[in-house]
Amino acid sequence: MIALPRDTELMADAEATARAAAEHLIEMVTSAPGERAAICLSGGSTPKRLYALLASPGFVERVPWERVHWFFGDDRVVPWDDPLSNVRMVREAFGHASPVPPTHLHFIPSDEGAEIGASAYAATLKTFYGADALDPARPLFDLVLLGLGSDGHTASLFPGKPALAERDAWVAPVPEAGMEPFVPRITLTFPALASARSVLFLVNGAGKRDPLRRLAAGEDLPAAHATSVGRLSWFIDRDAAEA
Ligand code: 6PG
Repeated sequence: MIALPRDTELMADAEATARAAAEHLIEMVTSAPGERAAICLSGGSTPKRLYALLASPGFVERVPWERVHWFFGDDRVVPWDDPLSNVRMVREAFGHASPVPPTHLHFIPSDEGAEIGASAYAATLKTFYGADALDPARPLFDLVLLGLGSDGHTASLFPGKPALAERDAWVAPVPEAGMEPFVPRITLTFPALASARSVLFLVNGAGKRDPLRRLAAGEDLPAAHATSVGRLSWFIDRDAAEA
């Protein structure tokens, strides 16, 4: 078995990690201070199962949908109905009878390019947060979901790209993605992703063995730089952990 990151919970399969993540999300939302909760969604394919689960019987009645605001950790700069769009993936996962109030889904603008979209999304986050500077004592998100790319990226923070070093802006344009799909991206930066009561990596499948091995070997991969002002944990299935 691969040496796993600290604070890993090893689970039987993708379904088990999705169920555990759904329970954790409900815990973070119901324990959120104040009247609103904020979740930062990851993209790609892994989390689709989790999002569909949240909208299904056994979970849908337990999420206080009227209190939760949903944000995106990153997206591809494509139309929202494009098969590559994380907006489309999330909309499909929540389903046509989506329980999410439309005003609570805060999509990353993708119709005016990466630069303009990134500054517009940063403004959205700052308006929601009510300040221009992040206070570690008052995290922006209750939960940030993250994935792990086969090259060790997370969100759209790719190896060797300038957005990795961003420490002031909350959102950064990524004109050149580090792996497919090779379309421009918009990503939250590490300081914004870290402003969370909980950061949770969801990692499934044999395709993630290589980045997990490289992380265990101490390689300086983007995912190794993810931090949290609260807790940071990994839900990894046996297939990814080669267990
Ligand atoms: C994206 C994601 C990205 C994703 C990883 C893993 O927009 O692609 O935010 O960071 O989490 O690439 O993707 P999979 O879940 O598809 O393996």
